Amino acid sequence: MTEQPSSTANQMWGGRFAAGPDAIMEAINASIGFDQRLYAQDIRGSRAHAAMLAAQGIISTSDAEAIGEGLLTVLSEIEKGDFPFSTALEDIHMNVESRLKELIGEPAGRLHTARSRNDQVATDFRLWVRGQCDAAIEGLGALIRAALSQAERGADWVMPGFTHLQTAQPVTWGHHMMAYVEMFGRDLSRFEDARRRMNESPLGAAALAGTSFPIDREATARALGFDRPMANSLDAVSDRDFALEFLSASAICAVHLSRLAEELVIWSSAQFRFVTLSDRFSTGSSIMPQKKNPDAAELIRAKIGRILGAAVALFVVMKGLPLAYSKDMQEDKEQVFDAADNLMLALAAMTGMLSDLTANRERLEAAAGAGFSAPAGLADWLVREAGLPFRDAHHVTGALVAMAEKQGIDLPDLSLEQMQSVHPAITADIYGVLGVHNSVASRTSYGGTAPAQVRAQIARWKQKLGEIA
Ligand code: ARG
Repeated sequence: MTEQPSSTANQMWGGRFAAGPDAIMEAINASIGFDQRLYAQDIRGSRAHAAMLAAQGIISTSDAEAIGEGLLTVLSEIEKGDFPFSTALEDIHMNVESRLKELIGEPAGRLHTARSRNDQVATDFRLWVRGQCDAAIEGLGALIRAALSQAERGADWVMPGFTHLQTAQPVTWGHHMMAYVEMFGRDLSRFEDARRRMNESPLGAAALAGTSFPIDREATARALGFDRPMANSLDAVSDRDFALEFLSASAICAVHLSRLAEELVIWSSAQFRFVTLSDRFSTGSSIMPQKKNPDAAELIRAKIGRILGAAVALFVVMKGLPLAYSKDMQEDKEQVFDAADNLMLALAAMTGMLSDLTANRERLEAAAGAGFSAPAGLADWLVREAGLPFRDAHHVTGALVAMAEKQGIDLPDLSLEQMQSVHPAITADIYGVLGVHNSVASRTSYGGTAPAQVRAQIARWKQKLGEIA
């Protein structure tokens, strides 16, 4: 990249300027250091624009052809990595156009007819963010598949369910995995929604007011895969909702990833041993050879920090900006680039980790039985079979738990006599709800943890995924 400040006025807009910008001015103004990532979208947009100008008789067909060909040469130069990006030329739009001029001469100057960098950048960036929505949708699809196959493997494996991270009631591994399938499914639909809403073309809004040239905005919208042109030119050049929506959806998704990551960190600890992470997705310690660290999970847990940070940053940039375009909006890109890169990486890493990990069935079951995770089933039985009001049943259950705890045994190990000493209505049938398997199997309400319910949800999701992919 050329870092020398230019002594002459900018060749793209410097007509009224006698001198070039101060080096500091150039440094704060330039975006080429990061917006070069928009090169493919910029060239695609320009080719669609030039073709439309020719079709409308605004420029000649031969000029449009020279422009179209020249832009393809620029594209291949950039892709080969031998494009001379210049800070003096500010941004990707002017870098591309300036190179086009070197390549094809005079016709290059006609490309910017009936267009401004304001609608150009809005178009390029929308196309880029739309592509990232597609990438997120694909990444989430893969992650959902990984969680589904974990759920399928352990649809009836019992494990403790927690509230306040205290053992609450037994659930199944499949049920727990399916909770994340639901979360990631909502994330996926958020990216689909955002994509649908952002899929309108700003191109042709020009600087802010539209243009006096007889352009065909429907044609350029179609050529770029947009559903329609945006209906208000002021809105078209000043809207960044699409980026805010992408960042918001990314932040919520990152929250979900972070919660699962946290569970993996806890579950893979020596104290829990609920899961074993694969060697491919863990690291060792240089001084403590016994350790296997869940670094990928920890980093995924942390990604929400920068992703939410990016969302907050852009919200603050946009807040209070008058219509239409303001240069503040150039600050949108780095935030979105960083958030998108990190979200895609986190999705891929979580997919890899989840696909590879082994849930330790025996360990999960042992933990489910410990800590009295079944008493709620007992209270329900007292209500259902002995006719006690729930509050009384809860009280009786508490007394039984205390009795077992005092003797250092599990609830099902109390004798019938001992139980009847707490409440005479208790019969031997109560043992039928006491084990963790009985407890789990009894939660047959819709969305409950009974393996039959879990399998029904797995089947529903498989069908849904078949429809998506
Ligand atoms: N680099 C600019 C941006 O990212 C492009 C638009 C510049 N428009 C302008 N009127 N100076 O926002």
